[in-house]
Amino acid sequence: MRTANRRVLLARVPTGLPTPADFKLDTAPIPEPLEGEFLCRTLWLSLDPYYRNVMKGHPLYGEVLRPGEVMIGETVAQVVVSRLAGYAPGDYIVGRNGWQEFALSKGEGVCKLPQEDLPLSAWLGVLGMPGLTGYAGMLELGGPEPGETVVVSAATGPVGSTAGQVARLAGARVIGIAGSAEKCDYAVHELGYAACINYRAQDLRDALEKACPDRIHVYFDNVGGETLNAVFTRLARGARIILCGMIGAYSMETPPAGPWLGPVVAARAHLQGLVVYDHLHRQSEQVRAVSAWIRAGHFKWKEDVSVGLERAPEAFCRLMRGENFGKALVRIDPG
Ligand SMILES: NC(=O)c1ccc[n+]([C@@H]2O[C@H](COP(=O)([O-])OP(=O)(O)OC[C@H]3O[C@@H](n4cnc5c(N)ncnc54)[C@H](OP(=O)(O)O)[C@@H]3O)[C@@H](O)[C@H]2O)c1
Repeated sequence: MRTANRRVLLARVPTGLPTPADFKLDTAPIPEPLEGEFLCRTLWLSLDPYYRNVMKGHPLYGEVLRPGEVMIGETVAQVVVSRLAGYAPGDYIVGRNGWQEFALSKGEGVCKLPQEDLPLSAWLGVLGMPGLTGYAGMLELGGPEPGETVVVSAATGPVGSTAGQVARLAGARVIGIAGSAEKCDYAVHELGYAACINYRAQDLRDALEKACPDRIHVYFDNVGGETLNAVFTRLARGARIILCGMIGAYSMETPPAGPWLGPVVAARAHLQGLVVYDHLHRQSEQVRAVSAWIRAGHFKWKEDVSVGLERAPEAFCRLMRGENFGKALVRIDPG
């Protein structure tokens, strides 16, 4: 029986892009559940770009993380010992264990997972928070119509691939923007996009002009910066722009210079921020729809899996450098 709980702490607030030295591996005793608690072991740890903002104390997330504390993070875990009604050993849950092998829970904010055919890790990706972001953001804010042109950046990640596939399934023509030939190939051949632009290999403005002859009706923006500037030059009248994320800026010490918004005005475009938590009421619908599409073979996703908790810091740093391919996860099996 294991007694040690391996954990990863935030060692210091990173400056610029995070490095492994910003984290510290640590060991503590496995805690014992009191009445009203259960102990669970982490099976999957989600790595999400917003952690970088929590690390620098951004107020949006309502989470406080100080150096010396266990890194925050969403997890799939299995109940080991339960002293809380409704939870039994063996139950699978989504919760927030953070970067550690074992954690206690009082059941708050925990979601029990159904025992079904879909992989557990999907609940941290396309069936979880990133999936809801892409699904609800695209449907509620983008409103893609059949035949319209929809552009999605970070197009193969969990948010982008959900947003893009939802638009495709709504009948739109989807153009991805991604950072390698391999990602673009996946976007076209697996996700079913009409085309995908490798912004590292082509001039983005020229490529958008060629790929979007009818201009861009919906842009789902996951990256901001120069990509957003390039899309601004190609908007259709009445375009909808969903500002979902600006990952490149999260590791900057000062915000980048603002985009030139003139073309947005000229195109009478709507520019609207998206916060996934406004759309939680659509979560069961998202899960139903995406599960059915997965089962029917209409919906794909990709995972970038590192094995072992000790790999979490470097895997997170890879995510923040943009070197992941698919939903970044750490496979944790403390035995
Ligand atoms: N608004 C919300 O409520 C909400 C909720 C969840 C996520 N988000 C945001 O949605 C975006 C996508 O998140 P995700 O979870 O699906 O992760 P993800 O796509 O796996 O994010 C990493 C990817 O971002 C792309 N990227 C582009 N420019 C980058 C840069 N300068 N530095 C690092 N990466 C860069 C890279 O893909 P390419 O190589 O293809 O460019 C990289 O693989 C993020 O901005 C995230 O913060 C927002």
